[in-house]
Amino acid sequence: MDKTGKRIDPWGANDISDYDKLMSEFGIEPFSNIINSVPNIHKYMRRNIIYGHRDFKRIALAMKNKTPFIMLTGLMPSGKMHFGHKMVADEMIYFQQNGAHCYVCIADIEAYLTRNMDLETMKDLAINEYLLNYIALGLKPKKCTLYFQSDFKNKYNTLSKYFAKKVTFNELKAIYGDLTTGKITSALTQAADILYPQLDIGRPTPTIVPVGTDQDPHLRLTRDIASRFKSEYNFILPSSTYHRYQKGLGGSKMSSSDPTTYIALTDSKKDAESKIKRALTGGRDTLEEQKRLGGNPAKCTIFELYKFHLIDDDSKLKNVFDDCSAGKIMCGECKMRCIELIANFLEKHQQKREKAKSQLDKFLK
Ligand code: TRP
Repeated sequence: MDKTGKRIDPWGANDISDYDKLMSEFGIEPFSNIINSVPNIHKYMRRNIIYGHRDFKRIALAMKNKTPFIMLTGLMPSGKMHFGHKMVADEMIYFQQNGAHCYVCIADIEAYLTRNMDLETMKDLAINEYLLNYIALGLKPKKCTLYFQSDFKNKYNTLSKYFAKKVTFNELKAIYGDLTTGKITSALTQAADILYPQLDIGRPTPTIVPVGTDQDPHLRLTRDIASRFKSEYNFILPSSTYHRYQKGLGGSKMSSSDPTTYIALTDSKKDAESKIKRALTGGRDTLEEQKRLGGNPAKCTIFELYKFHLIDDDSKLKNVFDDCSAGKIMCGECKMRCIELIANFLEKHQQKREKAKSQLDKFLK
């Protein structure tokens, strides 16, 4: 809870609008403070999509000095993997490519406890939906430990139980508000997700956890737990980065339960095309007005697709922004370009996804 009594609910529907306020209230540092010490800056960092962090300096140093560090993140399998989920995968792969040992946690216990999903369906989704896409996007089996919360080592399972010893009920209430037994178990399990890799590696190791802002309560709790268990385990406090979420195609939240809000990585080109045609833009009511006043790329869900996924070159992205704002391109034309870029991406991605099938075993040892 912050000074004004506000909370972030990791299990609720958070549609965050004021990131600056949030950062100062919860003590998240702006990423811009650290960006210059990052050796190989990712486009999400340059574009302020990754906008905040805690203790990223340790990670920047490990990347620079090529010393060991861990990347851990978790996902709750829910429906199809879409472009919003792709962002998290891109971050995992970036850290793997920059030297991290990756731990990918399938949070099936959490989904079972907080979303009423059955474990079998989730297992299938995690492997045949998420993992296949991760491999197609570039995740490599070397230095990658993928696990299911429901099916992981003994030491990991005991860790989350030990943590209960030094966490009070009132403290959890202050962080999370309304509690259920399932939420308490999920929170302590997540703390074990984040800290266990240091035990697995065998020594205190800097750990980066890339997440959306809604997960910050878990990080705050985990960092407290890490310091309280210093004498037993000598953990290094985990670092984290925070990303903004890509808007859904209708302008509000992208949601796995509403296919009109997203494009899935397995959507056909035709489906992607019709979704883009219907997507919200920052265009004006008439062509005349748009030429005269310019469009508003900051409000446009097509521009979001360019910014997050489809245009890697910053100067090209800036051109689109400037041309749109100056009224030089109209939405119809811009959507055609987007359709072409998406079709191109989907075709290549889906071919890689087919090939990835033969690699699944290497991740599921
Ligand atoms: N709670 C996360 C979610 O809602 C999933 C998750 C489980 C996770 N364990 C984690 C995320 C560890 C980051 C780190 O999606």
